[in-house]
Amino acid sequence: MSEQIRKDEFRKLLARQAKLIKPARDWLLSTKLNFPFSSVLEVGCGCGDVLHELGEDKWSVGLDIELELLKELKAEGVLGDGHFLPFQNGSFDLVYCHFSIMWFSDPAAVIREMARVAKKSICCMAEYDYGARLDFPDEFGYIRDKLAEGIISDGGDPYAGRKLNQYFKEANLEADVGAYCHVMDSQQLLAGFEDEWSFIQEFTDMDPGKMDDLKKSEFESISSGTRFLFTPVFYAIARK
Ligand SMILES: C[S@@+](CC[C@H](N)C(=O)[O-])C[C@H]1O[C@@H](n2cnc3c(N)ncnc32)[C@H](O)[C@@H]1O
Repeated sequence: MSEQIRKDEFRKLLARQAKLIKPARDWLLSTKLNFPFSSVLEVGCGCGDVLHELGEDKWSVGLDIELELLKELKAEGVLGDGHFLPFQNGSFDLVYCHFSIMWFSDPAAVIREMARVAKKSICCMAEYDYGARLDFPDEFGYIRDKLAEGIISDGGDPYAGRKLNQYFKEANLEADVGAYCHVMDSQQLLAGFEDEWSFIQEFTDMDPGKMDDLKKSEFESISSGTRFLFTPVFYAIARK
């Protein structure tokens, strides 16, 4: 598969993830981040799917290490590394990351930087931990394991969710750490079925024969109502 198709798949994946996790964000914003903010920075903003939603009517800036992704941004984009934020102390009311902590080589250093440039609050808004994902029937645990392997081979940490307390401690911050839990019903699973399998095909090295068998089997399981998929979304918030 060409590099361009891989990039297109990645953009599609980000948009899909942002949409799937919207209920978790809405809940966080209404219960935990329910203070007024007029400036916002997203570290590791990708194409800005989340920033466009959160930063509406605000001074919003997205920082990412990938220039290609920043080209999609409708907000102000900054090419940079989250470990060395090019902003002055207290520049933004809210500084957050979303689905990015697993990709930082030193998450505590990024969190320290986020706290430095924040005025009111910092938040790791939606982070996964593949060890917390539950699949039933058991055969589908293989999908989870292959996705985790894929993240490791791309340089990420699929078990970052459980480490949020540790990262904030290392950054000398007290954090409110929790999880948003939602079990997708058959209708939701079917709606995202083809996209999920193109993602599995693109980002794992699963054997094509095994993939066809599992895909067929999962379709049958969802259709008959036995499929269970639980992926908690972890968050951590620190106030200044
Ligand atoms: C899974 S994507 C999430 C994008 C976006 N936050 C979202 O939820 O749609 C992770 C993003 O982090 C960026 N990233 C990884 N390491 C980074 C670093 N050291 N500094 C800034 N961005 C980084 C990647 O380029 C990618 O856009």
